[in-house]
Amino acid sequence: MREVELKIKQNTQVSKDIYLMRLEGDVSEVKNPGEFINITLPSHYLRRPISVSDFGPGYIEILFKILGQGTKDMSALQEGHTLNCLVGLGNGFDLKDDNKPLLVAGGIGIAPFFSVIKYYNSKGIKPTLVYGARSKDDLVLIDKLARICDLHLCTDDGSYGFKGNVLQLIKNDNINFDYYYACGPYRMLEALAKAYPNGEVSLEARMGCGFGACMGCSIKTTKGPKRVCKEGPVFKASEVEF
Ligand SMILES: Cc1cc2nc3c(=O)[nH]c(=O)nc-3n(C[C@H](O)[C@H](O)[C@H](O)COP(=O)(O)OP(=O)(O)OC[C@H]3O[C@@H](n4cnc5c(N)ncnc54)[C@H](O)[C@@H]3O)c2cc1C
Ligand code: FES
Repeated sequence: MREVELKIKQNTQVSKDIYLMRLEGDVSEVKNPGEFINITLPSHYLRRPISVSDFGPGYIEILFKILGQGTKDMSALQEGHTLNCLVGLGNGFDLKDDNKPLLVAGGIGIAPFFSVIKYYNSKGIKPTLVYGARSKDDLVLIDKLARICDLHLCTDDGSYGFKGNVLQLIKNDNINFDYYYACGPYRMLEALAKAYPNGEVSLEARMGCGFGACMGCSIKTTKGPKRVCKEGPVFKASEVEF
């Protein structure tokens, strides 16, 4: 973990309430798809944890949805503004190239998958992504995703793609996989883990410190309590006691 000052290079609205922010600075501590950063925002005491969506030398990108005042304030920040961030937080996904991976995203849970897909593309693999959301407006960057992965889309209201949830879509499209990586709403992860224990789920929790000191983000697992910020946010699906 390292505390760094990152400069906003871009903060673009990509849907009604979702923004893509590019931050530049020393992000050498960011190593693994699925990690997160913890951002100090002006006039907010607690930092806000946000997944690293994509990263490379000297930059990271984050994709965030306006939920409350913190993310609303973030959406208004302009290019050139500097943010104090803790980077290199969390474990990230345990990506393997010797199996047929399936990526499963629900809503803003799509965020970490841009770096996951980049990893697979660099190995010559176009991974399968099942991406669901409430409705069409909640699906973001789908043209880009269609170029870099085998994309299967669904919406709860049927306004785009298959009408139904990601589990129904996996069955409907006869998607075969050895192992999956998932990020999205708690109920989606719970249902996936119960149907398919052979995968990893990226969890969210309300966080205090964000780096393992306060125990505020503990969850129950088959191996005892674990901290989402330190031992997670990615856990083996079979380990989490939902
Ligand atoms: C490891 C991790 C990675 C995350 N990655 C992303 C991401 O890539 N993109 C993104 O948009 N969001 C992500 N989040 C969620 C993000 O941290 C919250 O949306 C943000 O902190 C809300 O701040 P706020 O000030 O806008 O809302 P607040 O005013 O703090 O909260 C608004 C409402 O949202 C609820 N809430 C806030 N944070 C959480 C949370 N972590 N879990 C459940 N409910 C919450 C509150 O209880 C309240 O009802 C992530 C969270 C974690 C823990
Ligand atoms: S937020 Fe403090 S230990 Fe996880």
